[in-house]
Amino acid sequence: MSNNQLLKWYGLNQRDLPWRKSTDPYIIWLSEVILQQTRVQQGLPYFLNFQQKYPQVYDLANASEEEVLKLWQGLGYYSRARNMHYTAKLIVSEFKGVFPNSYSGLIQLKGIGSYTAAAIASFAFNEPVAVLDGNVFRVLSRYFAQPIAINSTTGKKLFAQLAQDFLNKKHPATHNQAMMELGSLVCTPQNPDCLNCPLNKSCLAHSLQSETSYPVKDQKVKVKERKMAYLHFQLNGKIAIYQRPAGDIWQNLFDLPNLILENDDSMDNILKELIDKDWIKPNDTLKLVYRRKHLLSHRRIFADFYLINLSEKANLGLNEIWVKPSELTKYGISRLFQHYFESL
Ligand code: ADE
Repeated sequence: MSNNQLLKWYGLNQRDLPWRKSTDPYIIWLSEVILQQTRVQQGLPYFLNFQQKYPQVYDLANASEEEVLKLWQGLGYYSRARNMHYTAKLIVSEFKGVFPNSYSGLIQLKGIGSYTAAAIASFAFNEPVAVLDGNVFRVLSRYFAQPIAINSTTGKKLFAQLAQDFLNKKHPATHNQAMMELGSLVCTPQNPDCLNCPLNKSCLAHSLQSETSYPVKDQKVKVKERKMAYLHFQLNGKIAIYQRPAGDIWQNLFDLPNLILENDDSMDNILKELIDKDWIKPNDTLKLVYRRKHLLSHRRIFADFYLINLSEKANLGLNEIWVKPSELTKYGISRLFQHYFESL
């Protein structure tokens, strides 16, 4: 019953979003990968750029990783872009460019988790599988006044079942879009607009006037802190950058040479480490020019940027390249690096 109200509400109130016009699994996948951990307003221009530049999976598969990362720049969580590129190549090489047409086929692919598989399977193929993202968790936890934490193992299972039971099996695509839209527009984290909610007659949290007590979450693990010294080596108007290796943050992005400081972040210690690495000579000087706290999902980075004017070319052993500042726009760089350059 309430389910029909939901679809009616969606028909009248949905936003006009370009990916909703398509049932092409490639286009839906592209939009969903971009929109993970990204707001619609922020993701929209990226989606349009990717769609224009790579209208088909073949176009994305044929692009270089560097180009893809460059286009992704600013969205963060770069492994999403790398996995997306990897999967595009696999779909071309193994599946003749055709996406698997079911949840169970889609979820085998790198970078496609249960949310994205359900989104593509329902939006492109009308398979009756419920999506479960942050918005849907919030709507369901309130609707059922569910006290189990959404980020606990039992909570995740329970909500997956609730979402699937609640799914309108005749209209899975519209139902899934509607649940997410309701979470975005009405059942918002703060100040939900219950008066205009199509589910308000049967929402348990609403009847208890306790909407904002849900969803319940277990305390998160603490984010790790990292102190870093960034080195802006300058020689004849050029700066040294290098490509970050696998196995750490910002894999494959370009970056300034840097030190991770375990304990001692004093200038004396930084100088000593740089001389030990043979990156500077004892009479080179460092000037602290910028300082920024930068937040990633699992890390808090305290970054100090030091300017070092070299009198002769140094070999840093990073396969570094020397570029003019104006050439930096050609390289994929982290937001932190971008902030620094914008500060200059
Ligand atoms: N966020 C993630 N997927 C979305 C979609 N299909 N529509 C609107 N917002 C979204």
